[in-house]
Amino acid sequence: MADVKRVMKKPASLMFKGLATICGVCLLGSVLAAGQAAPQTAQQTTQPRAEQVFKNVQTLKGLPVDEFLETMGMFAAATGLNCTDCHVDESGGSWDRYADDNQLQRTTRAMVGIMTAINKQYFGGRPGVTCYSCHNGNRRPKVIPSLAVQYMVNPILDDPYEIMQPAFDAPPLDEVLDKYIAAVGGAAALKGLTSYVAEGTYNGYDDFEQFPVQVFAKAPNQRTTILRSQYGDATTTFDGRAGWQASPIALGPVPVVTLTGGNLEGRALEAELAFPGQIKQVLSNWIVGPLTAIGDREARIVQGRKASGTPIKLYFDEESGLLVRMVRYSTESPVGRVPTQIDFEDYREVSGIKVPFKWTSIWTNGRTVYQLKNVQINAAIPATRFAAPAPPASR
Ligand code: HEC
Ligand code: HEC
Repeated sequence: MADVKRVMKKPASLMFKGLATICGVCLLGSVLAAGQAAPQTAQQTTQPRAEQVFKNVQTLKGLPVDEFLETMGMFAAATGLNCTDCHVDESGGSWDRYADDNQLQRTTRAMVGIMTAINKQYFGGRPGVTCYSCHNGNRRPKVIPSLAVQYMVNPILDDPYEIMQPAFDAPPLDEVLDKYIAAVGGAAALKGLTSYVAEGTYNGYDDFEQFPVQVFAKAPNQRTTILRSQYGDATTTFDGRAGWQASPIALGPVPVVTLTGGNLEGRALEAELAFPGQIKQVLSNWIVGPLTAIGDREARIVQGRKASGTPIKLYFDEESGLLVRMVRYSTESPVGRVPTQIDFEDYREVSGIKVPFKWTSIWTNGRTVYQLKNVQINAAIPATRFAAPAPPASR
């Protein structure tokens, strides 16, 4: 086969230039771009399966749309191939053309079969081997070991995307969490924190423009983010139990996506951690891990689990005690877990409580940066803010 032009690893959001801004707001990223599927109303709670929305799904049947598209992000992350590298070139301009098969599609389907067979035969059906284990970001898996890696002078202390096993000689959990609670204002002040409303700007992966964003959060666990783009409003809501992502009809095969599995749990956790006083209650099965470096600062890694068992890694600045990073995962899928990393910076004091004014989210097919301008604490928020969003109007 001819040597294939290596394309810079860009998130999927680059495929639909100009839509990246809006789509990057959500976990699904721009993959929710112009499609022709039947609109779904907010009242529907079950999300259509991939094969009901897309035309040529043969191997990954039965996955909800959000997980199917995340799986595509996993393929891209594992092979270093862009969405449009693996699909026909024309998919760059037309959502429909994703259905066209080519050799890479056929090989990829075979790869899903190989991976599933290995896992079934040798790992009791658990994803012991995923696309990433073999490919490690390369189109062709490497077969010769790298001496440079083996003799690396500065080994990476922590791979943030690996899940920790309990084997560390670390400080007690309460020491780390209590320091954090004190750093953000102390247990008493946090008890009085019942809601916040924030305004700021939002930047997608390849955006030079910034778009207005609003965040509403209500204790103990409701949160809504509204991005105002030129296409219409994109809304992500967690109402305390269920979660949705709504984007303008012009942009999405499913205008209102019901979040499932790890996506839903991740949103729940973001809502819960907006009220840090309850941090000890929202996770269990804690492990305190080693110190690692984030930039030029040291951070203590702590891992907890949601009730379903999904792990979450939290990184606390060793000096200030503040939460500086969170890594959360999708549900364990046939191709493994999809990681999302959120970095928190620019902590400022608002009515005695320290709030991160900047957060940067990266996942397998996108990156977003939020910069808040003002945060108002304990403002009244109508309950309707956290209701299931209606299919949004396009501008
Ligand atoms: C390594 C190859 C590969 C990469 C990278 C990849 N895909 Fe796919 N994609 C596939 C395969 C294979 C299928 C068919 C799956 C099946 O048959 O179940 C598919 C199916 C799809 C479909 C369904 C098309 C239809 O109408 O049936 C969409 C949409 C899609 N991919 C979008 C994307 C997006 C967006 C990205 C980038 C985030 C992406 N893909 C990255 C291999 C890839
Ligand atoms: C057990 C190891 C292993 C696993 C697991 C695996 N692959 Fe592969 N993959 C390979 C090998 C080996 C090749 C062939 C490389 C060659 O032809 O030189 C390959 C080839 C490919 C190719 C074709 C590359 C090309 O240029 O022709 C794609 C695309 C691909 N794999 C995607 C995937 C995806 C997506 C997954 C997960 C569903 C996956 N692979 C899982 C080992 C693996």
